[in-house]
Amino acid sequence: MGDNLIEGIEEADLPDIAALHAICFEDVWRADLLKRILSTPRAFGLFHRAEGEIAGFVLFRGASDEGEILSLAVTPSHRRNGLGLDLMHAALQCAGELDIATVFLEVAEDNLPARELYDRMGFAPVGRRVAYYRRKTGPSVDALTLKLNVK
Ligand SMILES: CC(C)(COP(=O)(O)OP(=O)(O)OC[C@H]1O[C@@H](n2cnc3c(N)ncnc32)[C@H](O)[C@@H]1OP(=O)(O)O)[C@@H](O)C(=O)NCCC(=O)NCCS
Repeated sequence: MGDNLIEGIEEADLPDIAALHAICFEDVWRADLLKRILSTPRAFGLFHRAEGEIAGFVLFRGASDEGEILSLAVTPSHRRNGLGLDLMHAALQCAGELDIATVFLEVAEDNLPARELYDRMGFAPVGRRVAYYRRKTGPSVDALTLKLNVK
């Protein structure tokens, strides 16, 4: 793992997390939605702050011995520095502490940076949701469901 200090997301961080989400994704996840997600049992969020700003975050939700990466984002100026990998490794470690055995996630088929990162971590494709992501411009894009056994 890298040198990035990874912290747990608290309620006071949610407006900044929502702002970063808005930069990185077309769909809007406001602070109140993030609060609802993180208040479900076996859900958690992790982030890294650099120079006072949120540089990246990951959101995870578990159910029984399975879990899901709900969102992962790194602010454009901090990309390709290993932060995405650090956030994912930290999330998998926390998931392991919750006795999660299998982690799933969905990624747009055309999101090559994220697919490369997940591939490096050992995630493997197990499904496809056709035209799952509706884009503001251009055709809808399939979601690939990826799976990683962590135990
Ligand atoms: C995907 C994302 C989180 C990656 O964050 P990051 O901090 O740049 O990732 P890392 O620096 O840890 O990259 C780890 C590896 O992933 C792969 N990778 C990351 N970005 C890549 C890119 N633009 N092109 C090709 N491979 C890439 C590389 O293998 C990289 O290792 P390397 O830099 O040694 O070659 C970031 O690009 C992002 O926030 N994108 C927008 C939101 C998003 O798509 N989230 C995922 C939704 S499923």
